[in-house]
Amino acid sequence: MVILGIETSCDETSAAVVSAGDVRSNVVSSQAELHARFGGVVPEVASRRHLELVSYVVRDALGAAAARLDDVEVVAVTTGPGLIGALLVGVAAAKGIAFGRRLPLAPVDHLHGHVAALYLQPEPLEPPFLCLLASGGHTLLLDVRERAGFRRIGTTIDDAAGEAFDKGARLLGLGYPGGAALDRLAHEGDPEAYAFPVARVPGFDFSFSGLKTALLCAVRDLATDELERRRADLAASYQRAIVRALVGRTLEAAEATGAERIAVVGGVAANSELRASIPGAALAPLPLCTDNAAMIASAARFVEALPYPEYLALDAHA
Ligand SMILES: Nc1ncnc2c1ncn2[C@@H]1O[C@H](COP(=O)(O)OP(=O)(O)OP(=O)(O)O)[C@@H](O)[C@H]1O
Ligand SMILES: [Mg+2]
Repeated sequence: MVILGIETSCDETSAAVVSAGDVRSNVVSSQAELHARFGGVVPEVASRRHLELVSYVVRDALGAAAARLDDVEVVAVTTGPGLIGALLVGVAAAKGIAFGRRLPLAPVDHLHGHVAALYLQPEPLEPPFLCLLASGGHTLLLDVRERAGFRRIGTTIDDAAGEAFDKGARLLGLGYPGGAALDRLAHEGDPEAYAFPVARVPGFDFSFSGLKTALLCAVRDLATDELERRRADLAASYQRAIVRALVGRTLEAAEATGAERIAVVGGVAANSELRASIPGAALAPLPLCTDNAAMIASAARFVEALPYPEYLALDAHA
């Protein structure tokens, strides 16, 4: 089955061609630079940019896969969660392409997509496993028994891990989006220089807002030149606290549920310290951690596609 995937839930416009679990192409056009001067994604700006880019990105993805629209058998699109205006652009584009070719359309949950990054060639992961999904908007522990879905067993009670990375990076003057920049700076610092807190919340949940406040206080206590000298130490210690929280809870949940395999997905799964901290874990491949359409096309293989023309009333959800 040749699947054309489309992803526009936040600030990446992406299209991919996947067949038999093989990623034939995965084109991602990031709008990060466009939003950088605002310090975060501006939803309406994102929607408009998706609208400008989506046709070109789809064309690029087909070209890179040496495929034509005639070869596509199913169109897959993220219907939520995400920014509503941004999602609607992808959904409208997918409907248009599918309707024009009388193809079926598979509505895909963005979080299912992040997990489905693990189901692609060359090393597709077989459930059951316990999955840590850490991204810009979510921090979830998922009990995955089948490729079609999962059961949530833990979530953040305030900020997501990626949000904690981005806000920490902003406090340290690293710009937006700062997760990857903070990761790089942390390599130069001492992770034990500051004792940042790891929140203890009941069950398998997470909390990162107190940690963020602790960094804010530490930064405020330093004079400008001192802050410059301690930035790498602050980054390393802050990252250590986030990774400790993620790894600690994941291992506890694995123990409690008897999971034999752990997997890590989502944008924060690109973090070098996190990747090194759970030996034996299945890690989403680096290019498939942050938002991309290949993971959406991958999830579509395990979703019931809507036949032509039933999907015309399909809606996005924020
Ligand atoms: N190396 C890294 N270290 C830490 N965080 C990172 C790294 N690379 C990316 N991130 C973070 O990953 C997040 C983006 O991930 P992703 O694209 O999955 O999020 P999203 O799609 O915005 O959110 P969601 O999937 O919850 O809707 C950002 O918060 C970014 O800072
Ligand atoms: Mg995402």
